[in-house]
Amino acid sequence: EETGKGGYEHYMLKEIESQPTSLTNTIKGRVSPESGSVDLDALTPETISEFREVQFVACGTSYHAALYGSTLLNEAGVRARAYRASEYQMGSDPVTDETLVVAVTQSGETADTLGAMRRASRGGATVLAVTNVMGSSAARAADETVYIHAGPEIGVAATKTFSSQTVTLGLLAHRLSEHMGGEDRGEPLDLALDALADLPDDLGRMLDGSDAERITNRYLGSDAYFFIGRGLGYPVAKESALKFKEITYEHAEGFASGELKHGPLALVTPRTPVFAVFTGEHDEKTLKNAKEAQTRGADVVAVAEEGHPAVDATDAHLPIPDTAPQWAGLLANVQLQLVSYHAANELGRSIDKPRNLAKSVTVE
Ligand code: G6P
Repeated sequence: EETGKGGYEHYMLKEIESQPTSLTNTIKGRVSPESGSVDLDALTPETISEFREVQFVACGTSYHAALYGSTLLNEAGVRARAYRASEYQMGSDPVTDETLVVAVTQSGETADTLGAMRRASRGGATVLAVTNVMGSSAARAADETVYIHAGPEIGVAATKTFSSQTVTLGLLAHRLSEHMGGEDRGEPLDLALDALADLPDDLGRMLDGSDAERITNRYLGSDAYFFIGRGLGYPVAKESALKFKEITYEHAEGFASGELKHGPLALVTPRTPVFAVFTGEHDEKTLKNAKEAQTRGADVVAVAEEGHPAVDATDAHLPIPDTAPQWAGLLANVQLQLVSYHAANELGRSIDKPRNLAKSVTVE
């Protein structure tokens, strides 16, 4: 039954709604809020202390998870950057034996990502794969592997694996920040372990009470759909727009909130709703940017906790449970997965197998 539709019309909705379980499996045995410990069975402290920087390589949704991971590492003062695997291969920043390259790939079979891993290995880097599939090509090619344990994902559009990737990369970022930099290292990344342990229940409650379908229906027929966010909300905005375009075939874009005024604002009209992600960090600035869109006549949908100042200032609200800023983006992303799903369903799209797309792309 794990790979059947289990009464759902689409695998995608089943996979969205299975996230309380898949996230539980991702976290299981790795996090103990009582003792404050995080356990990830990869890379010894001695090995980690040799690294000077972290480079993430990934494609599509996995790239957005990598961006989330690199942002968390940067917050802990660790030098880290996420690259699109296809561009990384062209020879971006130098790779040395003090570089850790983290390949993020759900399937473990994406040709662009495997190519980036080869470039990293040739440069002398240590290569770690973060994947969902045991024994995949990425797992075999990497020096070490960490599994996200999300279970099989059938829908072409990645949903539950994004959530499991972001949590796994959070755990990895904690471990790296604990040991990188030797004597000079700072405080390890704060993962808000209580909030992390509560995520599966939070998700369950949010999914049960979600109003995403009703709000989505209000905006069907728009000219385009924009998603904005800042900090950890930025990868979520990018991912939500990717999901929307993949399965609805409508025009959608994700922007860093602060970039809206540097160009994209020219596209904003009363016929382009803007979904704004509020994570509990830098929110005043994002709200200011959202209001700039409202002034041009666009409706703004705030994805934010109940009682957030953005709720009264905007046109619609998709609530997320109270949580730590580290994890608010993950919850917001799931509300926006539902927005994409309901829009695509209303438009009668081929949700589990969108046109022109494949679950894993084995050509460069
Ligand atoms: C394809 C899929 C995307 C996926 C990307 C990377 O383009 O359609 O959903 O995000 O590949 O896949 P990976 O298996 O490497 O995470």
